[in-house]
Amino acid sequence: MKVVGGPSSMELGRRVAEALGLELIEASTKRFPDGEFYFRYLQPIAGEELLIVQSLYPPQDEHLMELLAMTYTARDLGASKITLFIPYLAYSRQDERYLDGECLTSDLVRHLLEGVGADALYTVDVHSMKVLERYRIPAYNLTAAGELARYFADRGLKDPLILAPDDEEMALERVRYAAEVIEAEYDSLKKERDRYTGEIKTYAKELSVRGRDVIIIDDIISTGRTTANAARILKEMGAARVYAGVTHLLLRGNALELIKSAGVEEVVGTDSVPGSLSRVSVAPLIAEALNP
Ligand code: R5P
Repeated sequence: MKVVGGPSSMELGRRVAEALGLELIEASTKRFPDGEFYFRYLQPIAGEELLIVQSLYPPQDEHLMELLAMTYTARDLGASKITLFIPYLAYSRQDERYLDGECLTSDLVRHLLEGVGADALYTVDVHSMKVLERYRIPAYNLTAAGELARYFADRGLKDPLILAPDDEEMALERVRYAAEVIEAEYDSLKKERDRYTGEIKTYAKELSVRGRDVIIIDDIISTGRTTANAARILKEMGAARVYAGVTHLLLRGNALELIKSAGVEEVVGTDSVPGSLSRVSVAPLIAEALNP
């Protein structure tokens, strides 16, 4: 197997190749003056097994087109097996048709990836397993929740509690796992989203957090409102320090300011979305999954 890093995840591609001890394939990419994407493999790939690494953070449609071009070309040129590692699988929050007439966009992405010839898919902390269950090719979810919790735990925490800012199935699974990794307790809050306005409301509940350090673990920070709401509730209830370990830091607009002003000491994410807060790499996760 050989690794190719797409334009959104060049550095991660290098880390994945290193973690797996595999060769990194060279490719050439550019944008034409009108914005169209150009892609070329610089080495022969006929008969090769390829692992394509490309995360779909914003601008997600551009990154998706890049991934489609890389996958289509690999199939067209005769690669023997194409495995995709897409740490952030964009559109996974559109996991159901919540309102009549809506596009089930997560399934459109599935059609496109399968249509251009992907043979298998790995992602990290997918928002909903329903998205992966619709795939006809093998599609696997990995989690960074344990490593995110360990990042904070290694610095010494007071009687830590791991908290999910909502009680969706995947959110609970993540905190249960993170709590197991650092041998802590876990709990969750309840959150509701208005399907028309997107507004969210988080409900306070009895939580034993007075004087304790809390790590909020979640899959995505986009506007920051989910994390900020949870942090505000925790601080009001007397939590000592509140941290946030969130896999995909999309951080739109003033998300970070909002979260910090709600009392979060530190936000840490993964290199699924590269940035200054990406302190945990997802490379060991795919290395472990492919080479246990
Ligand atoms: C949704 O339920 C997810 O798990 C995240 O909590 C959510 O997408 C975060 O979005 P935002 O930062 O905009 O509140």
